Amino acid sequence: MHGLIHSFLRSVRWRTNRWFGYQSLYFYSTFTATPQISREDYVFVEVDKEAAERHNQDLHDNGNPDIPIDRLEAGHRCFGFAEPRGDIVSWGWVSAPPSGKNIMVPWEGTLALGLSGPIAYIWDCHTLPRARGRGLYRDNLLTISRLMLEGGSESMLIYCNARNTASMRGIGAAGFRRDSVLSILRAGPVYLLLEKGANPIIAWSGKAVRRRRKLA
Ligand SMILES: CC(C)(COP(=O)(O)OP(=O)(O)OC[C@H]1O[C@@H](n2cnc3c(N)ncnc32)[C@H](O)[C@@H]1OP(=O)(O)O)[C@@H](O)C(=O)NCCC(=O)NCCS
Repeated sequence: MHGLIHSFLRSVRWRTNRWFGYQSLYFYSTFTATPQISREDYVFVEVDKEAAERHNQDLHDNGNPDIPIDRLEAGHRCFGFAEPRGDIVSWGWVSAPPSGKNIMVPWEGTLALGLSGPIAYIWDCHTLPRARGRGLYRDNLLTISRLMLEGGSESMLIYCNARNTASMRGIGAAGFRRDSVLSILRAGPVYLLLEKGANPIIAWSGKAVRRRRKLA
């Protein structure tokens, strides 16, 4: 029943959002790798294709079973925490452009975020309701950041909706600092983006949003 109500609410939201939408997004970054975290209750895993096939209904936000595999094939990576019996209960995607190349990341609505430079961007994170409030999101952000920063990325980027208190707290607890606020106004296919902050990172480019420069 809960699942049914949830799908209904999602479909209503989607239909409404096709015509008009407004969102305020907070962008955060960090440059600092923390020591490795070890948890006794959950196992940190990188999601490979086999695991993605097993968990395909869970590992993203819109119900298409092909999406996790497509994302892995496009070069995005997914990390998370699994229960001892193997179920992944908390995960997040991360994208780091290969040297000298761009990588496009699915973003708000039909927009894509074009990343270039030595940056890693974390997105589409989720903790299943049964595992929430145990620090898994925070620990996943910390662990992914450590892996990426030690692997050659110079900075980490993440954003969340300004109303998402749990996400904001998790991001803060993982050591990220808020850089800017991006307001998105949408009427049908037309998007208007307005960014405020001491360290703006996004430039409007019609269909895509591109990272302009390395975070200072
Ligand atoms: C946001 C989300 C990933 C947090 O996952 P989680 O594993 O429960 O997070 P954590 O246990 O690491 O908690 C992170 C912080 O949020 C707080 N928190 C957790 N649930 C909360 C809630 N419902 N309301 C307010 N704060 C909450 C925790 O207390 C913690 O803060 P603290 O360190 O100051 O105590 C999870 O709620 C979720 O999947 N939500 C739906 C999808 C989503 O919003 N994804 C994030 C997109 S950016």
